[in-house]
Amino acid sequence: MTRVYNFGAGPAMLPTEVMEIAQREFLDYRGMGASVIEISHRSKEFDAIINETDRLLVELAKIPKNYKILYVHGGAQMQFSAVPMNLITRNPDRKAAYVESGNFAKLAIKEACRYGTINVAASSETSNYDRIPELEMTAVDEKSSYLHITSNNTVYGTRWQRFPDTGNIPLVADMTSEFLSRELDISQFGVIFAGLQKNLGPAGLALVIIREDLLHYALPETPNLLSYKTYAEKHSLSNTNNTFAIYMMKLVLEWIKGQGGVTTLELQNEAKANLIYSAIDDSSFYQGTAEPAHRSIMNITFNLADSDLVDEFLSQALAHGLYALKGHRKVGGLRASIYNAMPASGCQTLVDFMNEFEKTHT
Ligand SMILES: Cc1ncc(COP(=O)(O)O)c(C=O)c1O
Repeated sequence: MTRVYNFGAGPAMLPTEVMEIAQREFLDYRGMGASVIEISHRSKEFDAIINETDRLLVELAKIPKNYKILYVHGGAQMQFSAVPMNLITRNPDRKAAYVESGNFAKLAIKEACRYGTINVAASSETSNYDRIPELEMTAVDEKSSYLHITSNNTVYGTRWQRFPDTGNIPLVADMTSEFLSRELDISQFGVIFAGLQKNLGPAGLALVIIREDLLHYALPETPNLLSYKTYAEKHSLSNTNNTFAIYMMKLVLEWIKGQGGVTTLELQNEAKANLIYSAIDDSSFYQGTAEPAHRSIMNITFNLADSDLVDEFLSQALAHGLYALKGHRKVGGLRASIYNAMPASGCQTLVDFMNEFEKTHT
């Protein structure tokens, strides 16, 4: 069996060790004679899995005691509805503020408009989201129920280097493409959410971390299975949850702990990203598409000076075992998504290939 270096933006590669454990345990989970996907979400075995997942999240992300961990159905985009439904009435005027830093922010704004008056406090649309827009807190209505940001913009390869101080307005962050890739102070946020499919596990489930005082503002029409309060009260088991995704996340969290935790991963992630950004910056053959000061360390977006060579680059890269480097259609060119599970050797192989491709095409 040959595994490629998978640079896909998501669903993304998971650590090989995690996949191997899942494979070994798949038919017979710890001597039960049944698979983890065949046992009840209310069994003592699954109870141990979900409790350990909570415990590892608290430990690795340093989640303070006044926050709840929820495992919410649907992917990250389901949170684009869940966030306004659960928070918009924190202020009776039903106002919320959003920073438009990319297509997922734009989708979140579109969805939120169904539930209240949405103010786009800053946008980088005019420069095709090549940066995080400058946010002045004076542009944010102080009556806003919350301020929503996308901490890492998967498509455009930008991220917030530092997070805004929003005072009494809860900061809500879509961290789908970077959660647990860098150290965070969770107490800066009212809500953090992340679809699992980049750094945490399989697609279809979202991790939500919410400050307890924000659990009480849901619109009366909020479906039970989108109500954060219900998830908090029922330990995310109001109905049959995606037990396999939670189990996979537990394995990923154990792997992160084994790597030395988030601090170690952040250093590795910075080194991996710098390797590729240096290859881009040291050559006029390649061009980065994001403003250098706003660059993501998870999604590296770049182009070839001669964009007609992109298809050939992609097919030759694949022949070298470098998979899914095509950029998102909104940016074009190339994108290397290098989440926690991408080994440094994958980034080095990509850089070696880039250098070789440049030599043979200049
Ligand atoms: C930052 C961000 N938010 C939201 C989403 C949407 O996730 P989902 O497809 O799970 O709804 C993605 C998916 O790539 C993403 O990168």
